Amino acid sequence: MSGGIRAALPTELPVIEELARDALTFDAPEAALIVSRLAHPPEGREWTALVAPCLDGVVFASLSSTGGVGHVDLIAVRPSAQGRGVGRDLLRAAEDWLAERGVREVRLAGNPPCYAWPGIDVRYTPAACLAESLGYERYRTAWNMTADLTAYAPGGAAGGDDGERARLAAAGVALHYAAPGERAEVAAFVREHWNDAWAWEVEQASGCHYATREGEILGFAAWGTRPLWFGPMGTAEAARGLGVGRVLLRRCLEEQAAAGQRSTQIAWVGPVHFYARAVGARVERVFWLYRRFLG
Ligand SMILES: CC(C)(COP(=O)(O)OP(=O)(O)OC[C@H]1O[C@@H](n2cnc3c(N)ncnc32)[C@H](O)[C@@H]1OP(=O)(O)O)[C@@H](O)C(=O)NCCC(=O)NCCS
Repeated sequence: MSGGIRAALPTELPVIEELARDALTFDAPEAALIVSRLAHPPEGREWTALVAPCLDGVVFASLSSTGGVGHVDLIAVRPSAQGRGVGRDLLRAAEDWLAERGVREVRLAGNPPCYAWPGIDVRYTPAACLAESLGYERYRTAWNMTADLTAYAPGGAAGGDDGERARLAAAGVALHYAAPGERAEVAAFVREHWNDAWAWEVEQASGCHYATREGEILGFAAWGTRPLWFGPMGTAEAARGLGVGRVLLRRCLEEQAAAGQRSTQIAWVGPVHFYARAVGARVERVFWLYRRFLG
């Protein structure tokens, strides 16, 4: 590979985590978790982590389940090595790796269900400039919403039973926590109503809550698959409008607050109005999704 770029060794992950923490200024607290998550994708996903000489930079790339499409999942150059062509070399090396595997379209966009961001956070402006300088086309915009968790901490203003849970109980709806390792039933529900990607997220999540009526699952909500972020969640069509989604969302936020988070990002939204009404979330992070068709 040009520029001395090579595949990372598993033993180099701690150094990669540290360089990601230094470079990813808007994600520093969870940078190590993101690297570790990308290094443990769903079974069967083909992926690589390539590093620059002296471990000055890293790029993660993976194949999509859509044939001919590949993703650059993360690119980061140590601040002291930035501006010297390392990022460009890494992106080109990722393109070469993907092209060798039959990829015709490279996306600088999240490869669900295991991703770091939906696309390039617009505040990582040098990364957007790098993409554009290599001929990438901005093809979509995505956004996260931010929810303040201070009100959801134990004893907080939004905590406890706000009457809605009692109303659900009166309607025969029971709320449950699905512990890690005990999520097969929820995952099967998610697979049936949505897709395999969300089912994988449910199994990996830090926390997962669901609702049932007469033994039947009505809806679920999960957080922490993308470290520290909320999502996915869903209510079966037949159970919409009961308030199940709002209550499950709040149960997750309470758990995140109890785990010490002061805010969370609701990933890759989706129904802005629902989150704004249910928990006062606001649109905050904006991502540009880029793609380039290899010649
Ligand atoms: C984005 C990043 C990987 C670029 O790496 P780099 O080694 O500094 O970039 P290079 O020296 O190879 O520069 C290549 C091109 O990137 C763009 N670029 C790099 N630094 C830039 C800056 N400070 N401002 C604007 N454009 C910049 C330019 O287009 C540049 O080409 P040019 O010099 O001919 O104009 C690096 O800035 C970084 O690690 N940033 C933090 C992590 C990040 O943003 N990752 C993406 C998360 S979504």
